[in-house]
Amino acid sequence: MLNVTVLVSGGGTNLQAIMDAIDDGRIRNARVTHVISNNPNAYALERARKHGNIEAEVLSPKSFPSRADFNEAFYQRLMEIRPDLIVLAGFLVVIPESVVRAFPHKIINIHPSLIPSFCGKGYFGLHVHEKALARGVKVTGATVHFVDEGTDTGPIILQKVVSIEEGDTPEVLQKRVMEQAEWKILPEAINLIAAGRVSVGEDRIVHISK
Ligand code: GAR
Repeated sequence: MLNVTVLVSGGGTNLQAIMDAIDDGRIRNARVTHVISNNPNAYALERARKHGNIEAEVLSPKSFPSRADFNEAFYQRLMEIRPDLIVLAGFLVVIPESVVRAFPHKIINIHPSLIPSFCGKGYFGLHVHEKALARGVKVTGATVHFVDEGTDTGPIILQKVVSIEEGDTPEVLQKRVMEQAEWKILPEAINLIAAGRVSVGEDRIVHISK
């Protein structure tokens, strides 16, 4: 059984998609044990509490005198929990290097574009979709990837393409990318990892076995 900790900052629709997929059997052999939010007002915390059997907690950089102190507390908490997998589901805090090193290929992130387009520093949430529309691309999508020391630079696990339609606003596009891509490939990636089917080569290419 894969023990999963989900890190969140906002609405938590991706967290909901994970919990639903576990409950209806699309993800097998995994359970969410902890949800950690940097934002005490994140609706994601409410979703975790409503679900039950999940420890929902807040760990905010704002409650620490410095970022280094927060990073240390964050690292220590994760070392206590010792999750088999950490899922960043709309988590908007940079993961400290100590955590990346302690959990090699055990941290995954969902990003709302087809990496390497529209990713990196400053590309989060609605901004990603604003920039995709401003560039005039005709397709976008979502990516699940392993987290390394960079921003959105880790090995890619799954991607799904979503069409851009005439008249799209960032909000409309965000919703379509969530519905058609994010809420599907994030649970799918967790299920593949729980089934032991995901490996990362020396060349940092991800392979998914049958
Ligand atoms: C999602 O669209 C996720 O892909 C994005 O934040 C949103 C969180 O929504 N993440 C990033 O932009 C990370 N760079 P949610 O709280 O409803 O799951």
